[in-house]
Amino acid sequence: TEAWGPDDDEPRPHHGPVKVRVPAKINLHLGVGPLRPDGYHELNTVYHAISLFDELTARRGDTLTLTMEGEGTGELELDESNLIIRAARALAARGRVPAYARLHLRKSIPLAGGLAGGSADAAATLIACDMLWGLGMSRDDLAEVGAELGSDVPFLLHGGTALGTGHGEAVSPILARPTTWHWVVAIADGGLSTPAVYRELDRLRAASSPPEPLGGPDELMAAMRQRDPKVLGAALGNDLQPAALALRPQLADVLNAGQEAGAIAGLVSGSGPTCVFLAADANHAQRVAAGLTEAGVCRAAVTARGPQPGARVI
Ligand code: C5P
Repeated sequence: TEAWGPDDDEPRPHHGPVKVRVPAKINLHLGVGPLRPDGYHELNTVYHAISLFDELTARRGDTLTLTMEGEGTGELELDESNLIIRAARALAARGRVPAYARLHLRKSIPLAGGLAGGSADAAATLIACDMLWGLGMSRDDLAEVGAELGSDVPFLLHGGTALGTGHGEAVSPILARPTTWHWVVAIADGGLSTPAVYRELDRLRAASSPPEPLGGPDELMAAMRQRDPKVLGAALGNDLQPAALALRPQLADVLNAGQEAGAIAGLVSGSGPTCVFLAADANHAQRVAAGLTEAGVCRAAVTARGPQPGARVI
């Protein structure tokens, strides 16, 4: 009964523009295992996507170009070293198409902030160029391309709340009743180098009184199921926090200021220097953000909600 004609499921090139929104990530639990021979650390982490977004627009072009506005403009290199350019080239190679696109980034996620901004932009590029070039690749195929670009790319394609293993690239979603969590994000002046923070942790662990490692994420996952911010707050943890604090002692002032401002809990996000604080609800988050701003310990304090979906066309 079906008429002959073009198959509607067949992916076709898009005339553009394709606009993709991608969230930042925080780690509710970041357990760091030993350094592996390949230079990465074995992780067990609980990823959580929050409502701080970058936006990538892809238009048709006869070469590959990248422009940007917002956070980090003038600091972030827009050449072949940029993760967006590398993501576009890797996808084009995989899809056997020329890497032609005009890409524009509107950035809100701070550079080198411990919020996976670079991986987020790579994830957005994969989604945008897949559609622009009509490749029709699955999210799993895109995640495979993305894992080579940054450990957090597969998670940022999926979003939500998820368990990460391997060096972070192996992601499995955590199925839970939908609960919205309220966060305050304290953005620092300047960034921290992720490899430097991991190296500092290795150094602390080789010293006489190493920081106690977190262990597995079971307690955190059980805490999430109780849907009580106080319970979740008590279960948050980050093995990289002592290393980030060692490299940036002022972060202790940020964590203290968040506590003074009434946050339920606070921790360094990923490798830092961003700190995140858990609040009971949206109004409480506003008050904590105001307290942090008042204390003058960070460049900006913004509220955010999680979980959020991963990179997707808007
Ligand atoms: O994968 P990504 O590029 O985000 O990682 C940046 C750096 O962080 C790695 O080159 C490595 O030095 C460090 N890292 C690590 N163990 C991980 C993830 C990242 O040591 N699991």
